[in-house]
Amino acid sequence: MVEPRYGELDPSTPEGRRAVGEGNRLSWNEATKAHNSHKADQARYFREGGNKLYEEELGLLGDVNGKSVLHLQCNSGQDTISIAQMGGIVTGIDISDEAIDFARKLSADSGVPGTFHRADVYDWLAEASERDERWDIVFCSYGAIIWLGDLTTWANGFTKLLKPGGRFITVEFHPVEMMFEIDYSHRYPYSTHGTSITWDDGILDYVGEFGPRDTPTGWLDGVQNFENPHPAHEFGWGLSEVVTALLDAGLVLESMAEYEHCNAKVYKEMKQFRERSWTHKDGVPKFPLMYSLSARKPG
Ligand SMILES: C[S@@+](CC[C@H](N)C(=O)[O-])C[C@H]1O[C@@H](n2cnc3c(N)ncnc32)[C@H](O)[C@@H]1O
Repeated sequence: MVEPRYGELDPSTPEGRRAVGEGNRLSWNEATKAHNSHKADQARYFREGGNKLYEEELGLLGDVNGKSVLHLQCNSGQDTISIAQMGGIVTGIDISDEAIDFARKLSADSGVPGTFHRADVYDWLAEASERDERWDIVFCSYGAIIWLGDLTTWANGFTKLLKPGGRFITVEFHPVEMMFEIDYSHRYPYSTHGTSITWDDGILDYVGEFGPRDTPTGWLDGVQNFENPHPAHEFGWGLSEVVTALLDAGLVLESMAEYEHCNAKVYKEMKQFRERSWTHKDGVPKFPLMYSLSARKPG
């Protein structure tokens, strides 16, 4: 089992954040290729009206028709395009070249409009602020926050871009869920409070490992025996640290929820909760696996 290394990079400086971003860009480029290799004709799925969002984010997003939606850390754009299916005017930002190239092609091939920018989220937010951009909704989900070493700069960055009354929405894996290995053994801290966690084996092919359970577009065997040559750098953040970053940025918390089911299969043995969603196996005392937040900019 690969042991993580703690504190290798310092995200409190722009140089440190850049080193984290550059490492993760390389690692995500490789992993994204492997992930998409398992998903069958995605363009067709969206061309035929497919939408892969879950009821948690659908409920929080509400009616997005005609609204401008900024999707941070959007990966290959499948969720961005799903928001566009509902009439949202969407822009996705991601640091991975492979992810953004894929997202642009997916949008073109499916005919579902979306704009995609390859950029480090901190840089893009600062540049958009200089352009005086304003958005109705800022959204991110499922494994976006773990890549951020500086929640304050991130939250301040998108709060500036929200229109008065605009909302930040997220559905994320719960920090308690991330304390446990896939066999439920307790192995990781609740939060690393901004200390980096480096994995030499990089971002894994978790889509391939868990098989055809999470691929509504259909399954392909795709890349086999994937090994990522590029290490990945993560950060553990407790729930109160995420909420505090939003409040300190000037947002007002509108809703917060914790869920004992998860819209990904995160442990080896789990019980099906509903389609593409799992809960604890019988006999395990329940703890939260996901959380959601909605926060509004006053005005
Ligand atoms: C688990 S994926 C998010 C997937 C997302 N739930 C979706 O819509 O499919 C995390 C993404 O964060 C991106 N990322 C990591 N660090 C970033 C940064 N500093 N700036 C922008 N994107 C970043 C990665 O490239 C990756 O695509």
